[in-house]
Amino acid sequence: MPNPESTCLIVQPSQDLRGTTGVPGDKSISHRAVMLAALAEGRSTVRGWLAAGDTEATLRSVQALGVRVERPAPDEIHVHGQGSLRAAAEPLDFANAGTGIRLMTGIMAGQPFASVLDGTPQLRRRPMKRIITPLTQMGADISGVEGRAPLRIQPAALRGIRYEMPVASAQVKSAVLLAGLFAKGETTVVEPGPTRDHSECMLRAAGVDVQAENGVVTLQPATGLRPLDFRVPGDFSSAAFLLVAATTAAGSELRLTGINLNPTRTGLLDALRMMGADIQVSEVGMEAGEPSGTLTVKQGPLCGIEIGGDMVVRMIDEFPALMVAALCAEGRTTVRDAGELRLKETDRLSVMTQELRRLGASIEEREGGFVIEGPQALQGADVDGHDDHRIAMSLTLAGMLAQGQTRLHDAECIADSFPGFEESLRSLGARVVAAQDE
Ligand code: S3P
Repeated sequence: MPNPESTCLIVQPSQDLRGTTGVPGDKSISHRAVMLAALAEGRSTVRGWLAAGDTEATLRSVQALGVRVERPAPDEIHVHGQGSLRAAAEPLDFANAGTGIRLMTGIMAGQPFASVLDGTPQLRRRPMKRIITPLTQMGADISGVEGRAPLRIQPAALRGIRYEMPVASAQVKSAVLLAGLFAKGETTVVEPGPTRDHSECMLRAAGVDVQAENGVVTLQPATGLRPLDFRVPGDFSSAAFLLVAATTAAGSELRLTGINLNPTRTGLLDALRMMGADIQVSEVGMEAGEPSGTLTVKQGPLCGIEIGGDMVVRMIDEFPALMVAALCAEGRTTVRDAGELRLKETDRLSVMTQELRRLGASIEEREGGFVIEGPQALQGADVDGHDDHRIAMSLTLAGMLAQGQTRLHDAECIADSFPGFEESLRSLGARVVAAQDE
């Protein structure tokens, strides 16, 4: 299992996490910010930019399309949009970023030049038919390899469509809406359930006419987007790991500041509160259509709950972390309607079940979810992050709760979304250190 090229985290039992901290900028918002700034006419300023593996790949792709980007600080970018893009000399490389490749496919489908969009072997395994189908209905010329990347796009005239999404996916919705900017006539996407609406918020901030009501989103074509000037709030999906750490590690109390609280993202907050967690929200403000605020969380007893339906979409990235909370909760936690988890960076239902079992957990994996009876005592062991940032961070939390030492192999993927995760945990009192894998 160990790979000499990779980093491992050595995790010891940890309690009494305390302190105040922020988290890096939101990944979904950072991807969209650099894309819309690249399409705008003029200089956009994005502070709080997430300088992480996934978003940096998207930034490099817009640079490859002829857009100049200045970097006054690691978390600040100035994007000099010219209202149009230029053909790239090489295939665009989105590394592991599903959001990057899917949303950029929507944009590239509307360009007057050809392009190729690609990524790591992990990204090449992820389903792309879900975007190829509606974009092709709009007139786009896209071919994949059995519905997967690399995606080859030829210039084609696009027309607006009304698309009823078969899965509740913000990535699919956003790809269609972004292609709609370049289409003739309006584009409508109908959502089967509410998905994150960062694209709609930011498109409006850039001056685009986007109407949304009862899950029906309609966009009018637009060129010459208005430059953006805003701060990306902290990523709720990164804060989620600290929330779960603080609700489960004995004696903990944390204040997390500047966290994005867009209600399409905060399902875990509701789930943890249903489990009995003590979490307070304060200092809520708005910027660029996105709410953010402070979360104060204290450790306390948790109970098992049932999760399904729309709630799943509002916390789709948080299930690996929720599994750890469920292991600490009294009684049964049942999750259903979460089959989309099998199509993320890894099959998160199967990989989390397999890795938590190494720590001695008993989990019933189901086709669309899982059942966990808690509380369960965990035993430290060797576990693997599987090149999936959210798996790696969730296993770190599990290791903090286990008896004895846990070694998390393949931990460098954490930097895909949460650079500084280990340092942040340590500054709050966790016993986590990085080491070279042996
Ligand atoms: C994202 C949407 C979600 C989420 C992903 C980021 C986005 O994917 O899992 O991490 O930024 O739009 P789906 O829309 O495919 O569910």
